[in-house]
Amino acid sequence: MWTHSRSSGRRGAKSGRTGGATGDAVIDAAGVEARALDETGAYTEPDEASLLGVDHVPVQAETSADSDHRMAEVHELHGERERDDGHAYTNGAAPAAEAQPRNTTGLDTEALRETLALVGDRIDELGSDFYAQLFALAPETREMFGAGMAVQRSRLLGALVHIVGTADDRDDLVPYLEGLGRDHRKFGVIDQHYAPVGSALILALRNMLGIQWTPRHEQAWIQAYDWIATTMSGAAQRDAVIAPPWWDAEVVYHRRVLDDLAVIQVRPHTDYPYRPGQYAYLTTPRRPKIWRAYSMASAPRDDGLLEFHVRTVGAGWVSSALVWRTEPGDVLHVGAPQGHDIASPRSESDLLCITGGTGIAPILATLQELEQRQDGRRVHVFYAGRDRDSLYALPHLESIGVRYRRLTVVPVVSPEGPTDRSPHLMGNIVSAYGDWRRHRVYVAGPSSMVSTSIERLREQGVAEDQIVFDDYGLW
Ligand SMILES: Cc1cc2nc3c(=O)[nH]c(=O)nc-3n(C[C@H](O)[C@H](O)[C@H](O)COP(=O)(O)OP(=O)(O)OC[C@H]3O[C@@H](n4cnc5c(N)ncnc54)[C@H](O)[C@@H]3O)c2cc1C
Ligand code: HEM
Repeated sequence: MWTHSRSSGRRGAKSGRTGGATGDAVIDAAGVEARALDETGAYTEPDEASLLGVDHVPVQAETSADSDHRMAEVHELHGERERDDGHAYTNGAAPAAEAQPRNTTGLDTEALRETLALVGDRIDELGSDFYAQLFALAPETREMFGAGMAVQRSRLLGALVHIVGTADDRDDLVPYLEGLGRDHRKFGVIDQHYAPVGSALILALRNMLGIQWTPRHEQAWIQAYDWIATTMSGAAQRDAVIAPPWWDAEVVYHRRVLDDLAVIQVRPHTDYPYRPGQYAYLTTPRRPKIWRAYSMASAPRDDGLLEFHVRTVGAGWVSSALVWRTEPGDVLHVGAPQGHDIASPRSESDLLCITGGTGIAPILATLQELEQRQDGRRVHVFYAGRDRDSLYALPHLESIGVRYRRLTVVPVVSPEGPTDRSPHLMGNIVSAYGDWRRHRVYVAGPSSMVSTSIERLREQGVAEDQIVFDDYGLW
């Protein structure tokens, strides 16, 4: 999985800028504008060191004294730090990147994966049968799914199949499933629904795979589904004692800061506890029963308001309603918070944030909290947009940078213009900029940016468990 050698250490990572794993790719970045907000909070004009591919200037890290200096500084800053798990990384030692996957759930993952391989790309077909089985077994569940929303319905099945098929990491899966179980309360899911969903799943698999479906497969799926359902419903039951299934939240502020992007503030009817970096599923009365995820764009505030930044996605159902047809006084439903606590005080690692578009929202929330508690860790934010005007959060970042001196912001705009969708741009720039092997990394935004950036970081030797991400979708 890892293309970056563990033994290459500091020197190896650095040489990667010109001729190593990232070498060619850096040249791709030619033409990207990059400015940095320095530690005094002021924008620095691009110089050799920060010109990561500025118009037709190929990056030559090995020959740039400034660049060497910056690289050295990064290493010095992270000389020896506690990781989240209490282990210390030392300079030059690559993190444990090659750990073998362990099965900590005790499920028969071999049989589960085998079935998934047999299903292959026939997931839509499986979905049709799954829902036919489910609605026959439990007709009352039909109205929980948006009318005529075949695509939406397949989200449940797609996720279910994916989760079951990758169920080998208990530490990863349990918090996720607990969040999902709590969140399912907003759909009106109760304990009694889990059995018919499980039966429908197994029946649909059995029908599809015919003689390829063996007793071992059946046993493996029953065991896996049972464990998943128990984990989800247990969390939902515990949550029911302390929190509503969703929060009614009145819109108190709605402003379109760009043609296609609105900043929305809502007041939940009662306390809404969450951590910066998290997101919530929302639904609007203009699109009943259709829930979409949006990240909180502010740290928890004394006045209890939540802020969201929403960009329309084509004729997207929920986003267009939120951006174009929402006004103060509307009441949204907000599901339970989910996702990552990026600003966790338990971690001391410096932060690398990679983001595009409204992916800046959870990062603003994180920075607000770090600023409020003058946390002290260093934060790099790479912020991409279609063009300069679309980087709507820059003034806000700038003002945070004035107060939080350990923030560096690198705006990334393609000189090819708004239509440029080079998927590797961001990953190339980030990996060329420095050595991130001791950072905690958060990536949020469009799918292609998320996946290619993570790929680059992995090549650089950044360990899997240091990276968390929120993939906002295709655009
Ligand atoms: C964890 C998480 C956090 C998120 N946070 C935010 C946020 O803070 N702000 C924000 O604006 N969005 C955020 N999103 C994305 C958001 O949840 C929706 O996916 C988005 O608003 C589109 O929903 P929709 O109902 O408008 O579009 P849909 O009705 O689902 O889609 C309508 C049409 O657009 C196409 N389409 C759907 N999504 C995309 C896409 N991404 N690119 C191109 N075409 C697409 C579909 O194929 C369909 O044809 C987040 C997503 C996740 C998973
Ligand atoms: C036990 C395993 C289950 C898993 C892993 C699971 C997983 C998921 C996931 C990941 C989603 C998409 C989240 C979203 O987009 O909001 C989803 C949506 C949904 N789930 Fe589940 N689910 C499970 C059980 C159930 C049960 C028992 C019901 C009750 C009938 C249910 C009803 C729904 C509904 C109504 C949706 C919304 C679909 C839509 O967007 O229209 N789920 N589920």
